[in-house]
Amino acid sequence: MSKKPIGIFDSGYGGLTVLKEIVKQLPQYDYLYLGDNARAPYGTRSFETVYEYTLECVKKLFEMDCELVVLACNTASAKALRNIQQKDLPHLAPDKRVLGVIRPTTEVVGNYTKTNHIGVLGTSGTIASNSYKIEIGKFFPEIVVHQEACPMWVPLVENNEFESEGADYFIKKNLDHLFEQGNKIDTIILGCTHYPLLINKIKKHLPQGITVLSQGEIVAASLTDYLKRHAEIEGKLSKGGTLECLTTDSPENFDKAASIFTGASVHSKHIDL
Ligand code: DGL
Repeated sequence: MSKKPIGIFDSGYGGLTVLKEIVKQLPQYDYLYLGDNARAPYGTRSFETVYEYTLECVKKLFEMDCELVVLACNTASAKALRNIQQKDLPHLAPDKRVLGVIRPTTEVVGNYTKTNHIGVLGTSGTIASNSYKIEIGKFFPEIVVHQEACPMWVPLVENNEFESEGADYFIKKNLDHLFEQGNKIDTIILGCTHYPLLINKIKKHLPQGITVLSQGEIVAASLTDYLKRHAEIEGKLSKGGTLECLTTDSPENFDKAASIFTGASVHSKHIDL
């Protein structure tokens, strides 16, 4: 049987934090990771641009035999997923599926908060889209959502500055802003797949007793459940337990950074879109 991997997409390295958890929970499948590093970050780009870039990457993963693609990027999930699912898939590839990371996260957030006040941290694009507020409102209308855009956090991670004093400065600044909006917040969503790399600094600057939700485990659990419910997709996936990484930029840079994200050595290939 030819390889039919699960495609995992992010603008850069962030999606590797999700990939890592997915592989942990579902090691039997083949995976194809695509990082659009040449055009990252997506977080400050317009709706149209994020949609155009994301669609190109999804098409590439489809060409490479992915029947199922996970947008392991909040910015792409917020700005491109709905259009891709509703406008593009029906004529492009009606039997293939594209899933995002926002819905699985918003479906479970009500299980964590006791005060019904939560904070969402994300890129400017994700926060401006209000996707978290809208989706949480559908599942848990009683929850008050406070949001803070953290435009400097992805560049800190992409430039390997996440342990620096500069990281402390920006993380404290954004968390202070968030808690000025709502001091009843007891749960925080890291609404960007890059942010788990900043977890130590985030915890350092957070008030005591706040629950921090990273998406990796949540998205992996949701994908496990999805595959159980969708035998027509699951049955098409190949099960060789392999992982291949592609980047639109330099494989050397990707491999260096990816090993920090995954804690394992990575050997990527360059790809033109
Ligand atoms: N990792 C992406 C996310 O989850 C954003 C990174 C970027 O700005 O490109 O939103």
